[in-house]
Amino acid sequence: MGKQKNASLSFPDGSTGGNFPVLSGTVGPQAVDIRSMLAETGKVTYDPGFLSTASCRSSITYIDGDKGVLLYRGYPIEQLAAQCDYLEVCYLLLFGELPNKEQKLEFDTKVIRHTMVHDQINNFFRGFRRDAHPMAVLVGTVGALSAFYHDSLDLDNPSHRDISAYRLIAKTPTLAAMAYKYTIGQPFVYPSNSLSYTANFMRMLFGVPAEEYQVNEVLVRALDRIFILHADHEQNASTSTVRLAGSSGANPFACIAAGIACLWGPAHGGANEACLDMLEEIGDVSRVGEYIEKAKDKDSGFRLMGFGHRVYKNYEPRAILMRETCHEVLGELGLENDRLFKLAMELERIALEDDYFVERKLYPNVDFYSGIVQRAMGIPNNMFTCIFALARTVGWIAQWQEMISDPEQKIGRPRQLYTGQAKRDVVPISQRG
Ligand code: ACO
Repeated sequence: MGKQKNASLSFPDGSTGGNFPVLSGTVGPQAVDIRSMLAETGKVTYDPGFLSTASCRSSITYIDGDKGVLLYRGYPIEQLAAQCDYLEVCYLLLFGELPNKEQKLEFDTKVIRHTMVHDQINNFFRGFRRDAHPMAVLVGTVGALSAFYHDSLDLDNPSHRDISAYRLIAKTPTLAAMAYKYTIGQPFVYPSNSLSYTANFMRMLFGVPAEEYQVNEVLVRALDRIFILHADHEQNASTSTVRLAGSSGANPFACIAAGIACLWGPAHGGANEACLDMLEEIGDVSRVGEYIEKAKDKDSGFRLMGFGHRVYKNYEPRAILMRETCHEVLGELGLENDRLFKLAMELERIALEDDYFVERKLYPNVDFYSGIVQRAMGIPNNMFTCIFALARTVGWIAQWQEMISDPEQKIGRPRQLYTGQAKRDVVPISQRG
């Protein structure tokens, strides 16, 4: 990353100010380093939603939203999805390089050995109502891990940060499966070290003590792909939340719980659940046109869930891969004629041809298809975001680790454009009209 020419600002009164370095990354837009702006000009920038603001330097994930490119540590997501499993991708995100065979074996073993949770956590679950949303339970129990692992909370100690990373990647699936089992009143299924990360999760989710769980490799591969596609995604809302929480020195379990809370929103990770709810509401292919019109009507407050993305203004690569997996899974399960799947395909067809969506570059996003895949696998709608959260945990951790080791890291503290009352005096209550 090199420094280039400096930029300055010109203001409406004709004055100019500032001497801001223009920074270049490896690829992607240049960034104007405006950190000295307030001191130099007495002015701040205004950028709600961070539309044009780079909040950090990062070498983990790169997105070119116009071209539909997603790279993890430089590798295209298409190649990773075709050639690697999820834990290989986790290794890559955490350490920057793909593992060789020995490194992979060591890493997989380490993660798999950390999948059990402290037995006291079982009691913690019992404090929740049985009808709680699994995401509410996941936020609470992941946050609670910081009460169980005091031994690894020294942020200045790299081995503490590493052990916390392993614990979070390994235990979040266990907690997500427990959240599900708890809400349906089935006993918790303990992890099995003889299975892969993803097969183990499926067993903890669907297995029961009364019978042996049969692993279906096509479905395991599909879920593993969902994990890979959701593993990291640059400085999105939940990742920025994790970084912001972590910038104060909060422990990683608390930071990841904050990320999970942010992910829950329907504009972010909650979109695949909201998308399936929307498909259920539409109910029949004959009503697709009506809902397309509703999505185009600004007064309706309705948006087509699973369409559009802040960064991608093209068909996103994750959606293309997930569409492929969707067809594979439905084929494997003999569900090609599934009512909601047919409805989703019709919605996709019409939206891709409609001027409103074409002009605004609104394409189906990964969540449009991942919800259909998960539903076909028997995963209930309210678990979709938990699955996103467990897959994203590695990305959050990698980004958190990167932030902690960044010498430029500061507590996140945005400025504001104040629009409230200027200073005024309190009138005694007896004199107020
Ligand atoms: N349905 C209908 N219209 C839409 C949709 C949609 N899903 N998404 C955007 N638009 C319209 C907006 O109304 C706006 O129209 P206008 O220019 O006439 O005012 C235009 O497209 C641009 O929309 P913005 O809200 O400015 O785009 P932004 O980048 O802020 O929002 C977002 C992106 C939040 C993802 C949005 O597209 C959305 O709400 N989509 C539905 C929810 C969803 O699927 N989220 C998943 C995101 S992917 C993820 O988290 C993994």
